[in-house]
Amino acid sequence: MKITIGSDHGAVDLKEAVKRVLKEFRDVEFKDVGTFGTNAVDYPDIAEKVCADVVSGEADRGIVLCGTGIGISIAANKIHGIRCALCNDVYSATMSRQHNNANVLAMGGRVIGFGIAGKIVRAWLTAEFEGGRHERRVNKIMALENK
Ligand code: RB5
Repeated sequence: MKITIGSDHGAVDLKEAVKRVLKEFRDVEFKDVGTFGTNAVDYPDIAEKVCADVVSGEADRGIVLCGTGIGISIAANKIHGIRCALCNDVYSATMSRQHNNANVLAMGGRVIGFGIAGKIVRAWLTAEFEGGRHERRVNKIMALENK
């Protein structure tokens, strides 16, 4: 699985922690689109870079991080084809895959610690979309893009 990951300045340390977790998975390759320092950047720009890879198919999934996870998840969900789930707990991460087929995960670097973030990432990477009635609902979500 190919993953593109990015954060604004509010979650650079969390991004490094998440990358360490991604390295646990032999079948995961990741690309980091920044940011790489503490200089302030605008989270919509990071969301756009990560989601471009997901939409083009260069990445199977994306991970976006900012201080709260809110701004970058809102930005990601403006991009056609993206279903971004802001998850600051493990249950939501699992359900976002099983029921919502989320293709982008968002978390907040100023909200959660590295330990819970690691559990969230592991759950999100391993949970599978259940399809069935959830597929009908996800299709309805995607149809909203054209209304
Ligand atoms: C940046 O200061 C902060 O606004 C951003 O990281 C994020 O929390 C926005 O939703």
